[in-house]
Amino acid sequence: MHKGILSIIGDTPLVRLERAIEDCHFNLIAKMEACNPGGSIKDRSALKLIDHGIETAAINVGTTIVESSSGNMGIGLAQACAYYGLSFICVVDPKATVQNIRLLETYGAHVEMVTQPDAGTGEFLQARINRVQELLGAIENSFWPDQYSNIYNALAHHQTMHEIAVALDGKLDYLFCATSTCGTLRGCAEYVRDNGVQTKIIAVDAIGSVIFGGPKAKRLVPGHGAAVRPPLYRPGLAETCIQVSDLDCIVGCRRLAQREAILAGGSSGGMLMAVEQFKENIPANSTCVVILADRGERYLDTIYSDVWVKEHFGEVSQLWAKAEKKKPACLTATY
Ligand SMILES: Cc1ncc(COP(=O)(O)O)c(C=O)c1O
Repeated sequence: MHKGILSIIGDTPLVRLERAIEDCHFNLIAKMEACNPGGSIKDRSALKLIDHGIETAAINVGTTIVESSSGNMGIGLAQACAYYGLSFICVVDPKATVQNIRLLETYGAHVEMVTQPDAGTGEFLQARINRVQELLGAIENSFWPDQYSNIYNALAHHQTMHEIAVALDGKLDYLFCATSTCGTLRGCAEYVRDNGVQTKIIAVDAIGSVIFGGPKAKRLVPGHGAAVRPPLYRPGLAETCIQVSDLDCIVGCRRLAQREAILAGGSSGGMLMAVEQFKENIPANSTCVVILADRGERYLDTIYSDVWVKEHFGEVSQLWAKAEKKKPACLTATY
């Protein structure tokens, strides 16, 4: 018997993917972060940040938690705050989906919407941070987890990597890891470094994200990618970085659903297509883990909606051919 919902965060299962990649010459395994009770890998970070705040007395019974997030981190924090009886203000922007706002409110979070991008940068991200700062100034006894800078976000993922390493008895050749705050990447990479695990880490980022360089561009699939390089980023965390497009995410998600009966979120589809792009570099019989960060239900009106896909990317029946024709977007330098 588990003691409360937060105690079942983590220890997510590994599932062998035997159908997603045709004629696959290596073992491909998915770490199913959708099995966290809030539906994503961010449950781990949210819990770690709140628990650390409680342990250091930065958070007490009357504290209001304030964070900027339109997605999984907000939901993870809303879940943890609901369990601990803490007030939570989640600052979102108009890109937040109706479903995510409903989920946040259902957990009892107060949702604050910024309506205009920051005048200086043109970014909603900066506008959300500005609003967080205003709220922190205005609310006595408030606490900002600050997922982009707080090292405890990364420390939460030492455990993620530990679970994988233990389950595979240290025999893991490649880990594919999606990036946004870089919490997962940094936590897993530092665990590998500090524990002598012989695993090559492949970062998977969005085309149009600036984390690993490259020009900033509009992205439609939320979750992975960042418009500003996060303070948690460090050079050298990954062997290489593969950038995936929104179209890759859509094709990969639909492939996971059709071939593996896994209904996963956008970055998971991108991860599968990153493996597809990189597969010729993987020696036969290697073992590869892809971290599938979240559930697909949050993307029913976008990635899994033929109407939405047709509006943004054209005929659904031609998507696979389009994605396959695209030149691999594998970056070459060391990351
Ligand atoms: C769906 C999804 N994939 C990947 C990531 C990237 O994780 P991280 O913030 O640890 O870099 C996130 C982060 O919110 C996410 O929501």
